[in-house]
Order: sequence, then structure tokens, then C-alpha cells
Amino acid sequence: YSSNQPYRTAYHFQPLKNWINDPNGPMRYGGLYHLFYQYNPKGAVWGNIVWAHSVSKDLVNWTPLDHAIHPSQPSDINGCWSGSATLLPGGKPVILYTGIDPNNHQVQNLAIPKNISDPLLREWKKSPKNPLMQPTFSNKINSSSFRDPTTAWLGKDGFWRVLIGSKINTKGMAILYKSKNFVNWVEAKHPLHSAEGTGMWECPDFYPVLNQNKLTIGVDTSVNGDYVKHVLKVSLDDTKHDHYLIGTYDAVKDIFVPDNHGLEGNHQYFELRYDYGKYYASKTFFDDGKNRRVLLGWVNESSSVADDVKKGWSGIHTIPRAIWLHKSGKQLVQWPVKEIENLRMNPVNWPTKVIKGGELIPITGVNPVQADVEISFEVNDVGKAEILDHMIDPQILCSQKGAAVKGRVGPFGLLVVASKGLQEYTAVFFRIFRYQHKNLVLMCSDQSRSSLNKENDMTTYGTFVDVDPLHEKLSLRSLIDHSVVESFGGEGRACITARVYPTLAIHDKAMLYAFNNGTSAVKITRLNAWSMKKAKIN
Ligand code: FRU
Repeated sequence: YSSNQPYRTAYHFQPLKNWINDPNGPMRYGGLYHLFYQYNPKGAVWGNIVWAHSVSKDLVNWTPLDHAIHPSQPSDINGCWSGSATLLPGGKPVILYTGIDPNNHQVQNLAIPKNISDPLLREWKKSPKNPLMQPTFSNKINSSSFRDPTTAWLGKDGFWRVLIGSKINTKGMAILYKSKNFVNWVEAKHPLHSAEGTGMWECPDFYPVLNQNKLTIGVDTSVNGDYVKHVLKVSLDDTKHDHYLIGTYDAVKDIFVPDNHGLEGNHQYFELRYDYGKYYASKTFFDDGKNRRVLLGWVNESSSVADDVKKGWSGIHTIPRAIWLHKSGKQLVQWPVKEIENLRMNPVNWPTKVIKGGELIPITGVNPVQADVEISFEVNDVGKAEILDHMIDPQILCSQKGAAVKGRVGPFGLLVVASKGLQEYTAVFFRIFRYQHKNLVLMCSDQSRSSLNKENDMTTYGTFVDVDPLHEKLSLRSLIDHSVVESFGGEGRACITARVYPTLAIHDKAMLYAFNNGTSAVKITRLNAWSMKKAKIN
């Protein structure tokens, strides 16, 4: 089976077959993690959407259950779209999700467990009062732009609050609804936040993070106070990226005030992204078992629709990531949950090693198509970095200066899922520039040579990483899993996820290398690599 399925993942979440998109309603209940997700039971393309359901003890191994929510009443007869779970005081879970009604209008529905003493929460019953929120002529909400309720939070005034993604013309917004009993919802006078020119806000997420130097623990969604900042994340339909803002939630005025943002009028309003590769429609939840906030996200295919239909499936989820506020207060940090390390086997460690300009060193002893690789570099020649004379979009810079373009300090990093003759490889690397008397660290994931099959989307991705190469080591971790390469730069300050479909570098034919294509030597201060066991997912 797997011999003709070289792109199926071994430890990234995916069902046996068919289309999947957004993670929905993640939560921890009865000591188990619950994951629901958008699923087409009938094929490998989007459509016929239901909530599929899996449970896990460790966020790594999953057991599939029957579909939890599927079209059954007028308010969701044309589809059960994205939504979130909320744990009511006492721990009772409820789900709000978007239903597509007989007029193809987007409305919000409530579902509750049939049997709360079943830790698997296998059966859900829908409120006879559905839909609980709907677009009306008077509230000016367009019935095709009103979806994806967030996890609700409880204010000191005893009212629950929930956000619904929307837009009016091109002004994206997070509409706020309030309720005392979770059934009767009233729209607030103004949205929690909005921004001109950003287009439809899909899958909003709104949560507190601790603003205390070095604290990586998470807090429940209703927490607010002195040591708390709030994050507003939106999935922009126009860019197909997950963008976020850090700011303050004014619970009296019920508005979110971002610390810092770009000019309104375009997508640059959101300066930060969770992931600078292929990544969308993510959602967090508070894990009260390990006191952390966990982020789940969807990664679409980069192959053609015809290829997806041929292989019979489309879409995976990332490795769940713990997420917290960086000590600078200016960005988030993400790191794969610890539990994934239980899949590591056959460790490979290198002593400190200098990698000269032009050198390519094979990393042997790990399975290159199923690996976890951590590598750190020390750079002594920062002064020799190339000069950047004007600011440029880092993704464009990465595409102009791919791994094959010789540099000075960098490009250095990893060549993953590479064929023996390097006809195919994906390069994840750093390259240092000098810009206005400051050192700029560029991180790239270069897919331009990832496959000889040119039907695939092989776009190069990139971002700047806020690391000072003079005083800090440059670290990179890549989780390689057949057709996905999930990379973390600067200890989780920058993430890039890519999909790749090599034709030669598959099964036991793939290679893994460290490389340096700059003129300056750099020192590898750490290399730890592991083969990864297959997780039990289907
Ligand atoms: C995001 C999204 C959501 C919607 C769902 C439908 O990928 O478009 O806005 O609820 O997918 O499957």
C-alpha cells in the first residue's frame, strides 16, 4: 500500500482517505484530546462537509470515531462548517459551528453531547433552537460572510462572548455576540475589531497569553488581567494565510486594541504570521492537563487536483504546537508539543563541526523521509554579510536567492528529501544580510527543486527571524514526513511549513544533508537527528 503512496505521512495527522480542511473544536475532555475537522466523506476534493472526529491521549496517536456532526436539520442541511468548543463552568462541553441552511446562508448552531459521561463524546445533539445567530437585513451582515465561531469566553458580568468572522465590503471584522445562557445570543453594538481592506476574516481565534518574561505556560480563554496580553488571529481569505495581532482586550468597552499594526487599507495591516509557508485555518485550545495553549493547523496539498484525486486524499494537519508570547512581547513562539519526541529513535549526534563554504555533508543514520532534525550554527563572520540596499519582502528575497545562489554568510542549513544526484531537494536555510547597520537573518524554505514533477506548486517561502547572529546561535528544527517539511527557526520564532512531492527522493532513495553555499565557513555547534516512528493515526 505505502509503496504506491509515497506522499502519505507517518506522523502528521490525516485520515485514511478523502479531503480534510480546518481543525475544529479541539479540546481536552475526560483526560482525552478531542479533534474534529472539516471532512468530505465522498472524495478528495472539498464538499459535503461534516465534522469528523478523532481522540488521542498524547496529541500524536489518534483513534478515529464516527462523524460527530453532519447535516440533519434545516440550519445545517447544506454543510457543517467550522466552529469551536467551549467548556462551560463545571467542564461541560458545547460546540458552536456554522451551518449552511436551505438558502445557502451561513448561520450559527449549537450542539451538545448526548451523554456527558461518555469520555469519547461520540454523539452530539443539536439545539432545537438552531440557528442561534443569523444574518439579517438590519445587521447588514452578508449571508455568505458570516462564519466560524470562536471558543467563547466569560466576562465578569456573567455574559459569554463569541466572535464570528465576517466582512462588510472589503472591511474584515470579528463580530461580537453575547449571551447569558449560550442559547440566546445578541450582537454587540460594534465588532471586537475590524480593519479596512483586509477582506473576509475566516476562522478567527482570540485568546490570552501571559506577558511575563520566560513564562511559556498557557491560560484559559476567559482569563484577563495585568499580566495578560491578547492575541487576535484571523485567516485571511484574500491571502490564504493565518495572520495575528498582539494587543490588549478592553473588557469594559469590549474592544481589542492592537499594540502595533500596519496601515489600514491592505493585508499588510497584519504584520505577523503563524507560519510563512502553507498553513491555514488554525485554532488554539487551552490544555489544562499540561497548562499550555496548543495550536493546530491545516496544511493543504501543493499537488494538482488530478493528483489528489488519483492518490485519494488531500490535506493534513501540522504537529500540534505549544504557543506562547516571546519575552520581547512582540511576537509569539511556537514549538512542537513535547509528546512528539516519543516517536524519536536511533539518535545521531555530531561533535562540533565546521562547515566550509561550498561544503555538503551527508547526515547518515536517520531515515531522511521520516525524521526530526535539530541543527545550530555559530557565525563568526557576520561582518562579511551581503549588503541589502533596500527593504524587500523576505519571500521574494528567498526566491531570488535560493539555495543554489552562492552567498557570503549563508545560505547554510539543511537539504531534505534530496535525491542522490541532487536532481531533487528541498532546502531549508539561513542567509545573513546587513541592512542599515543591522544584521538581518533571512530564513527560507526553497521548494523550487523539490520535484521533477512540475505540476506541483513549488513556491519558495521565507521570512526574517528576529535573532541576533552576533550573540545567539542560529537554530533550525525540521520535522520531515514524506510530503511535508515543517521547520522552526530561532527556537520557534519563525515557522515555515512546505509540501513536497519528490519523484526520486522517496522511500529508501532519499538523502539528508547539511550544506553551506556561502563563502564564509560556519560552525555547526549542534546536530541531533532522529528517525521517527510511525504514529497510530487512522
Ligand atoms: C476555512 C473555511 C471556513 C469554513 C470552512 C468550510 O478553510 O473556508 O471559513 O467554515 O473552511 O469548510
